[in-house]
Amino acid sequence: MRTLNVALGARAYPIHIGPGLLQRVDLVAAHLRTPRVTIVSNTVVAPLYLDAFVASLEKAGIGVTPIVLPDGEAHKNAATLDTIYDHLLAERCDRTMTVVALGGGVIGDLAGYAAATYQRGVPFIQVPTTLLAQVDSSVGGKTGINHPRGKNMIGAFWQPQLVLADTDTLKTLPDRELSAGLAEVIKYGLIRDLPFLDWLEANMDRLLAREADALSHAIERSCANKAEVVAADELEMAKEGGRALLNLGHTFGHAIETGVGYGEWLHGEAVAAGTVMAADLSRRLGWLSRDDFERAVALLAKAGLPTRSPELGTDRYLDLMSHDKKVIAGRLRLVLLKRLGEAVTYGEAAPGDIRAAIESCCG
Ligand code: NAD
Ligand code: GLY
Repeated sequence: MRTLNVALGARAYPIHIGPGLLQRVDLVAAHLRTPRVTIVSNTVVAPLYLDAFVASLEKAGIGVTPIVLPDGEAHKNAATLDTIYDHLLAERCDRTMTVVALGGGVIGDLAGYAAATYQRGVPFIQVPTTLLAQVDSSVGGKTGINHPRGKNMIGAFWQPQLVLADTDTLKTLPDRELSAGLAEVIKYGLIRDLPFLDWLEANMDRLLAREADALSHAIERSCANKAEVVAADELEMAKEGGRALLNLGHTFGHAIETGVGYGEWLHGEAVAAGTVMAADLSRRLGWLSRDDFERAVALLAKAGLPTRSPELGTDRYLDLMSHDKKVIAGRLRLVLLKRLGEAVTYGEAAPGDIRAAIESCCG
């Protein structure tokens, strides 16, 4: 097991990464205020991992009330959130019990937001079971749900007490979901870690073959990058750069996810295609060379990710992007690449260039 720390003062917490961690309930018990947890999972993950996890917790004297939600991005909404609140109230959960998210990023975001808001906030633990959740969504405290008008539009920052990433769970992940997680892994290389980008190019075949040491290295390096960024700008308040840089490709990507309908494109797939748009715009600004642009596209393609975006119409893209949380006083700020390994937030891109980048990356 490797342990990293998210250095947030009073809200600091460990990220444990390794095989067999679902059995290490001692790691969970150390963070409970009272020996009582509600596990939030879904209909895909629960049959795989819930029973054994519950049995280990109960054996350690921890009371468990599980709730199993429908699977998928289309359920990351207010109606599903309400079923979590109903469950917590029906089970008479008080403010000392802990909400545990067992699943991918959808479950983590939903359960985290329920924990942030139930009785004005209860403790929360992330047990991520997808690559995407292990490298990104379980770390950093962003929680929330989608709104029909925009992705992740309702939410709260609510840090977990602990992230327990059992790498054995990745063995059951479908190939398409593994690739989706790799989009966020590649993101760290592109925005701030050129040596990691080089390593990813050299080791993508090993990652796709799910070699354990390659996956562990990618997860550790991703979490180390994320922890550093979050510790420096927890609430994404930096005027320039900061935590917003973790959103490379996300403004375009969220427009794709909302535009085609939640769940049609996986989040990581939309981020990959959105990253190509951001890289294309960076090239138009004279920052990224043609070779470096093609290098980024080739790595995403090698990871099994889409590099072309759906034809929503440029005006529709721009309308959807205008809801982005990085918009300030009507001005769209995008995360772009100064060069490979260095991202910036930029609000000065000419509308014509943005349109051209969208148009050249669709279809
Ligand atoms: P997901 O949660 O929908 O999981 C993908 C699929 O894999 C689902 O069908 C799930 O049930 C299944 N699954 C989960 N674990 C499995 C396992 N071990 N074996 C087999 N199947 C398994 O999607 P995701 O890619 O994990 O997360 C995407 C979500 O995360 C999006 O909603 C996105 O907005 C959010 N996100 C949040 C943050 C954040 O900082 N909070 C960051 C990135 C993404
Ligand atoms: N996934 C972006 C962030 O956590 O800030």
